[in-house]
This record gives sequence, C-alpha cells and structure tokens, in this order.
Amino acid sequence: MAKNALVTGWGFYAPSRVMTNAELERIVDTSDEWITSRTGIKERRIASDEETTSFMSVRAGRAALEKAHLRPQDVQLVIVGTCSPDYLFPATACLVQTELGATRAGAFDVEAACTSFITALAIARGMIVSGAVQNALVIGAERLSRLLNWKDRTTCVLFGDGAGAAVLEASNASVGIESTVLHGDGSKGEMLMVQAGGSKRPASAETIERGQHFITMAGGEVFKLAVKSMADAAEEAIAEAGLTLDDIDILIPHQANVRIIDGVAKRLRFPPEKVFINIQRYGNTSAASIPIAICEAEATGRLRRGDKVLLVAFGGGFTWGAAVLEWFGAHDGVRPLSPLERAGRALEDVVERVRPI
Ligand code: ACO
Repeated sequence: MAKNALVTGWGFYAPSRVMTNAELERIVDTSDEWITSRTGIKERRIASDEETTSFMSVRAGRAALEKAHLRPQDVQLVIVGTCSPDYLFPATACLVQTELGATRAGAFDVEAACTSFITALAIARGMIVSGAVQNALVIGAERLSRLLNWKDRTTCVLFGDGAGAAVLEASNASVGIESTVLHGDGSKGEMLMVQAGGSKRPASAETIERGQHFITMAGGEVFKLAVKSMADAAEEAIAEAGLTLDDIDILIPHQANVRIIDGVAKRLRFPPEKVFINIQRYGNTSAASIPIAICEAEATGRLRRGDKVLLVAFGGGFTWGAAVLEWFGAHDGVRPLSPLERAGRALEDVVERVRPI
C-alpha cells in the first residue's frame, strides 16, 4: 500500500472573456469602488456558450495529465468537484472521463460547493492510501455565471467561471498530502443556495418566474461563519499534520472575498505576505478557485518544491475543510509507475531472465 498521495500534475483553464467591474456598472447599480473595497475583485471570467463545466474541466485535466506525464488511459479515477455541473446526471466527471480518453477510470462528481476541491482531494487521497487506486485526476470546475441572477447586485458581482485540476499519484515517499479535514453544517444551508431545479422543487414556470434557479445568499452571515470556520479548519489540519503555523510556507485559501481571506490570516496570526491571492482577476470561482490559485502560485515562483502548503475553504452547505501538503512539483520523469507500466516492467524482467544467453 502507498504511504501517501503526491500531487504530480496541475493545470487550469479560464475562459478568455473578461468581465470588468466597469462592465458590471452598466448592468446593475454598482461601482468599481464598491466591489473592489468590499470584495477585492476587479474582474472575472465568463464562459462562452461552448465553455461548459465539462469543457473547462477537460482542458484543465489535460494540462494536469501532461504535466504529470500520465496517459489518460492510465488514469484510474476522475473526480469533478462542482456545484454547477453540466447536468443533474450524468456526472460531469463521466463526460470528462470520456472526452479525455480515460477509458479505465472510475468517475463521479463531488458537491460540497466551494469546499468541493478539498473534499475531492481528501477522497482521492484516501482511495490512494488505502490501495484502491494508484492515481486520480481531481478537478474543481464551475460555470456559476449561468446560476447568477444578473439583476441581483448582491451576488452577480462576486462569482466567475473556470476550472483547475491536480493529478494525485501513489507514493512511498513520506512527502505528499499530510492531512485533510472536512466539516459540514446543513442547519444553515438556506443562507447560500439555489432553491429550485432539484427533485424537491423541479423546474416549473412558477420557479422560473420567482427566479428560484439563481444563487441566493445572506452575505453578511456567510462572511462571519466563513472566517471562523476556515481558521478553525486550518488549525485542525496543521495539528493533524504534526506541524505548527510557523512551518507553513504558503496559505492558498478559497478565493471568496479578500476580506474573508484577510480575516482568516488575522485570526490565525499568519503573515499576510505568505497568503496567495488572485481573486482580483477571477472573482469567486467556487470549487475551481484553489486549484487555479495553486497553478498561479507555482507559475509565479510563490510555490516551490519542499514548501508546506495550507489549503482552506468554506462554502454552501455549509461545508468547510482544509488540507496540508508538501509540494513536490514536477517529477521530471521520475514518478510512481502505473499498474500497466508495472506489469509491463515485470514482463520485461521475465523475458530478460528466460532469454538465451
Ligand atoms: N454594489 C453596490 N452596493 C451593493 C452591492 C453592490 N454590488 N451589493 C450590495 N450592496 C449594498 C447593499 O444593498 C447594502 O445597501 P443598504 O445598506 O442600502 O441596504 C450595502 O451595499 C451593504 O451591504 P452588505 O451586504 O452589508 O455589504 P457587505 O459589506 O457585507 O458586503 C458581501 C457584501 C461582499 C456580499 C459580503 O457580505 C461577503 O463577501 N459575504 C461573503 C460572501 C461570500 O464570499 N460568499 C461565498 C462564500 S461561499 C461560496 O463561495 C459559494
């Protein structure tokens, strides 16, 4: 059985269409000053008709597989974390699995709103460490622009579209994902939800008339809960990893609101310069925000081999969680062998042994 799960590949996809705060000023009664000072967001990406959640997931997933030098046919598990799937079912992960050519992989979606990526990471790590699979492609992807009421200034300015992915592989090294913690509290679920379109309140002329297919949110309440819950989960994950806050080199939080992120750092007494923030360019992309931020932190040299990384998120449900990992980075061709490769090597060994001298 593997000792740990290692991130060996990563990639993201963001739609090219940029919507600035200035553009939003023309759509709803808002201002760049209000959005920037209340959220830190300057612009967000909006998916075209072609850029569905599965489309973006495939692009992010392919980039992550290429980075890991892992062939799609060797992938054993595809998990897509999303609250804006293409359909209620089939799962977006199935669409992604097929489009990527990951023909031997199991596939399912995880829905824990903005905590979906950390949740999917925890599941994949558990399955790898238990020996159930040798690798997994974990994707966080959202197309929240299609769940927004573009007449509601309290929500439409906050969110954006995109996808990020990570390849996890079994490893016998002690580095990798060192802890994951997950929490939930359904008692306050109505504070952040999409009321209609599920089986309890299926789509009807009335639900559409009432705008119940859009995201609604009690922003202030969410804000307070998010700060406390994220800080608590962060401390728990650090302790579970046997570390202290001083050991953490970089905090990559879910990018919901720069004030929430600042609040978490302050509550933890964590140095702000060690916090990675890119919400100004993407808004809140929910499940996609952490994997996109990982990619950008790595690309800009903020995330380096050997760094202890703290991931933390809070989202609808409510759900919240955190993970601590040691960043390994690109394996430069040295990586755990896939079961197929292992079988191939074993066969080569046998052939070698029986070959006449
Ligand atoms: N432009 C201008 N004014 C606005 C806007 C806007 N876009 N939105 C709200 N306002 C107004 C309100 O109507 C209110 O006016 P009023 O006082 O006349 O009633 C005023 O601004 C203040 O509203 P508040 O809601 O008190 O503003 P607040 O400072 O709390 O900021 C915000 C609102 C940004 C939504 C904040 O509460 C927040 O970030 N909450 C957390 C939301 C979040 O991050 N959710 C996602 C986490 S989970 C997930 O990612 C799915």
